[in-house]
Amino acid sequence: MTAQRAAELFRETFGEEPEGVWSAPGRVNLIGEHTDYNGGLCLPIALPHRTYAALRRRDDGRLRMVSAQGDGLVETSLDEVGPGSPEGWAAYVAGVPWALARAGHEVGGFDVAVDGGVPLGAGLSSSAALECAVAAAVSDTGGLGLLDSTRGRAALAAACVEAENTVAQAPTGGMDQSAALLASAGHALLLDCRDHSTEQVPFDLDAHGLALLVVDTRAEHALVDGQYAERRDSCERAARELGVSTLREIPLEGLDEALSSLSGDLLRRRARHVVTEIARVEAAREALRADDFERLGELFLESHASMRDDFEISVPELDTAVTAATGAGALGARMTGGGFGGSAIALVRREDADAARAAVEKAFADRGFTAPECFVVSASDPAGRDL
Ligand code: GLA
Repeated sequence: MTAQRAAELFRETFGEEPEGVWSAPGRVNLIGEHTDYNGGLCLPIALPHRTYAALRRRDDGRLRMVSAQGDGLVETSLDEVGPGSPEGWAAYVAGVPWALARAGHEVGGFDVAVDGGVPLGAGLSSSAALECAVAAAVSDTGGLGLLDSTRGRAALAAACVEAENTVAQAPTGGMDQSAALLASAGHALLLDCRDHSTEQVPFDLDAHGLALLVVDTRAEHALVDGQYAERRDSCERAARELGVSTLREIPLEGLDEALSSLSGDLLRRRARHVVTEIARVEAAREALRADDFERLGELFLESHASMRDDFEISVPELDTAVTAATGAGALGARMTGGGFGGSAIALVRREDADAARAAVEKAFADRGFTAPECFVVSASDPAGRDL
């Protein structure tokens, strides 16, 4: 997956040169899961895996889209885009200019060729990478200048969230798009989803003899099915019963009291995950500031247990990855992203990375699971122009 390949696909499909090629990364979240739509905190990094968009602006409002991973050209026009239309991968592309126009920006149509290097269905935010690569391209070719400032990038992220929620109709929370546009190499992005403030937290594992291993379990996950929406709905119900706008308003010290006034055990477990997870993100930031990676590993494990037992979004493949990596010496491991499949991450000493990977592969083979994909990642660059 390279910028040149996207440019080549553009030339083959449209018979002319693109104005340029832009790209955006996938992400893994270090900690802070299902906290974004609760006004909470999360701590993602940008992956080295990127999705590329070669684009040329059009003045007639037409949108012509081709994907190296799709089959054939999809055509529509800006005024035909709306809730549920177009469908499939094109929703994540066409939704972006639609949302930018709704936000008051001057945007036209385009021809675009996209090429995705973020594994699909792996919980690594391939959808956000696609939206954000297109958003970067639309901003530059339309002279919007939104890539030039943190504020502009946040506005692009908001448009991408709107595209995903309304056009693709996936009720996600916004972490992924912020990571793709606002993260930076060598840092984790502390994202406060209550006031949308961000902080770059140094995250250079290499300098500490450590590595972050991603295990794509190949247990496919999708955010457009009902489970994600159900979790979001439970959290919103819990907040309503507690008389707060979001669960972020419940401090850890007030958790027991809040839980005792909720109407059932299910809502209690969902709320307990969110409130304790937000506290764990704060603890993770402190651990990173103090270079205390043992502590970070413990927090990973506590977070995983909370997602498995209270939020109930793990699956046997994810639990197996966490147990096997930890058994092979990882400082900690946890599932990352929306859950119900997708990927886990493990914090390992560099010299233990191969053993951890081998232990995970063996545990999967022993249980008869599809072989996982394991790879080491470091915190990479946000969306930008490549060519
Ligand atoms: C998915 C969603 C995000 C976030 C995570 C869980 O990645 O797109 O908004 O809710 O799940 O933390």
